[in-house]
Amino acid sequence: MKTIVYKTDTPAELHQAVEAAARLLRQGQLVAIPTETVYGLAANALDAQAVGAIFEAKGRPNDNPLIVHIADMEALPQVAARVPEKARLLMERFWPGPLTIILPRTPQVPDATTAGLDTVAVRMPSHPVAQAIIRLSGLPIAAPSANLSGSPSPTEVQHCIDDLTGRVPAIVDGGSCTFGVESTVITLAGEQPRLLRPGAVTLEEMQQLIGPIRVDPAVTQQLQAGAVAASPGMKYKHYSPKARVYLVRGSYQGFCSYVNALEGEGVYAMVFDGEQQGLQKPAFAYGAQQDHLRQAQELFRLLREFDHLGAREVYVRCPDADGVGLAVYNRLIRAAAFTFIDLD
Ligand code: TXA
Ligand code: MG
Repeated sequence: MKTIVYKTDTPAELHQAVEAAARLLRQGQLVAIPTETVYGLAANALDAQAVGAIFEAKGRPNDNPLIVHIADMEALPQVAARVPEKARLLMERFWPGPLTIILPRTPQVPDATTAGLDTVAVRMPSHPVAQAIIRLSGLPIAAPSANLSGSPSPTEVQHCIDDLTGRVPAIVDGGSCTFGVESTVITLAGEQPRLLRPGAVTLEEMQQLIGPIRVDPAVTQQLQAGAVAASPGMKYKHYSPKARVYLVRGSYQGFCSYVNALEGEGVYAMVFDGEQQGLQKPAFAYGAQQDHLRQAQELFRLLREFDHLGAREVYVRCPDADGVGLAVYNRLIRAAAFTFIDLD
């Protein structure tokens, strides 16, 4: 399959890209589109066959449900059967934006989209290109991250080109993604609100608005063998570069001594800004220790970069897990397959 990459730099390019993407979506085809979180692999959420093609193109296990993207509130009743008051409050405050809300679904949403669950994940993205494409298509749009299953989510168009060339008819270039980690996922389909995946909309911000929210254990821990995942995506190995990733807890001095003493080729370090000078191995910074937004932006790009460099082992300074840091931590523990090294 030939893959066309559409630019959106000029008004004419933007117009052509949005027209082409919306047309392909209406024809049941796949298009990789930019969003403010990560690039998404879009298809008509109401067309089981189109949604099936997403799973095929990504190599994604089909028991992992997709997020349905809408451009305006009028589209919501088509996919969500009921909207509880707390969900309404979250939508008013955080939509359009990086928040996905799990709600009871309507019968129109096919099992292929929800992996047979009686709930549906809904998000209204704020990226103007995503908005324009969804609106013109006139459809609710299913879109997982536009990477091959298991690899780091794409935060730049080149990542989509690397993973999906020959697998999809079109990729729309919308530049670098603002947030760099996938949306926050919260369920309001049960008795109590529960955070399933942390993102740029933080637990603290949401709790201020709607009161207590439980944090699903899978946000910070490995699921026990045989346990049923509240959010099926959390049971899969994720975000992993080819290198082995180790999350290192402890002081900066301890980190330098430990990493500098390691032998062999292909050892890399991922550190906070200004920390490279203490290391005798190649070291890349992913933001200041307190700058979680920056860390989120840099994370997936760096993980992919380590692959290009042929890294064998990557030692990472462990981020603080508050605010947006919880999202960074959540992705890194998966990239590291839950392997920690505790110093001091
Ligand atoms: O920022 C994002 O959310 C990006 C962009 C493209 O919008 N999309 C994204 O999709 O990250 P994906 O498929 O990579 O992640 C969706 C997550 C998965 O962990 C999935 O298991 C969960 O949402 N999910 C979807 N529907 C669900 C449902 N009905 N109940 C529980 N979890 C659900
Ligand atoms: Mg994904």
